[in-house]
Amino acid sequence: MPHRSESERIAALDAALEALCGAFGPSGHEFQGVAERIAEMVRPLADELRFDALGNLICIRRGAPGAKRVMLSAHMDQCGLMVTEITDGGFLRVAPLGGLKPSLLFYRQVVFANGVRGIISHESAVKENEAELKHLYVDIGARDGKEAGELVSVADVCAYAPFAVRLHGGLFSAPAADDRAGCAVLIEALRELESPAYELAAVFSVQEELGLRGATVSAYGLRPDLAVALDVCPTGDTPNAQPLGIKLGSGPALKVMDAHSVSHVGLRGHMQSKASELGIPVQLEILPYGGTDAAAMQKSRAGIPAATLSIPSRYVHSAVETVSLHDAEKAVRLLAALLEDPAAGGL
Ligand code: ZN
Ligand code: CO
Repeated sequence: MPHRSESERIAALDAALEALCGAFGPSGHEFQGVAERIAEMVRPLADELRFDALGNLICIRRGAPGAKRVMLSAHMDQCGLMVTEITDGGFLRVAPLGGLKPSLLFYRQVVFANGVRGIISHESAVKENEAELKHLYVDIGARDGKEAGELVSVADVCAYAPFAVRLHGGLFSAPAADDRAGCAVLIEALRELESPAYELAAVFSVQEELGLRGATVSAYGLRPDLAVALDVCPTGDTPNAQPLGIKLGSGPALKVMDAHSVSHVGLRGHMQSKASELGIPVQLEILPYGGTDAAAMQKSRAGIPAATLSIPSRYVHSAVETVSLHDAEKAVRLLAALLEDPAAGGL
């Protein structure tokens, strides 16, 4: 039973999102910022907290004795760039960590784990619409290669500099909302829960953007009976958008399928009927591309029923990923209610 009001949950999500989107954590480098921040936030909500060998943060909440185990996964990594070369002139050449296109990167600010800032531009001899990643460079203000080498090294990584904006209607925009929005929903659902009907393994996974690597190993280690991923999904509600039936602010989405998973039909149906029981509007997501941690979890061992609860997001992988706090609040309520209802254990 919810014990906070809707506006209290929204305020908590807003604060959690700002804290999480402000934390550093390109894929493989989650330990340099975001992992510790999430650990601090979930420590009071956990019966047990640990990191595994790849750096996944696993938060265990024990249920009734003999209860089935549910793995919940929200990835804490964000796309980033790795320094591949420092030029004699003091500029940085970079390689992407995750799905970043050049057009998303032009004239953006980035930050390194040590606080060094940079700006991305492209070779001026190359036209903007023809620029590829190899034509980009990061300008950190160094006078030459020697000075740049005192600030950063080859193999260091950077991410979009954090900058949170609130738009009208409860929209929140910041880099890394994919998937810190999922992390925030998971944290707030753990806070909301009173008596889970399952043993919960809430995983804040690593390296999702590089191919679901963290969830692959954590699902293997945890042997869950059921699994739910929490991630963002793109919308089709902007001018001349791709034809996707997802609208920001119209409620969380239940993934039917994407390029890497088909949600378990029984589990998705159970989520759908729980939502209608609670009067929470949900949208159905059918995505011809993309993938979430559910794809890794469902293929673990001999197979695990898995689904994805999605938070609609505009401008995915840009520096202005935009989500609705109202959608996130509904996702929190739906997830908490699902985890308090033993019915899904029959799947
Ligand atoms: Zn994601
Ligand atoms: Co992503």
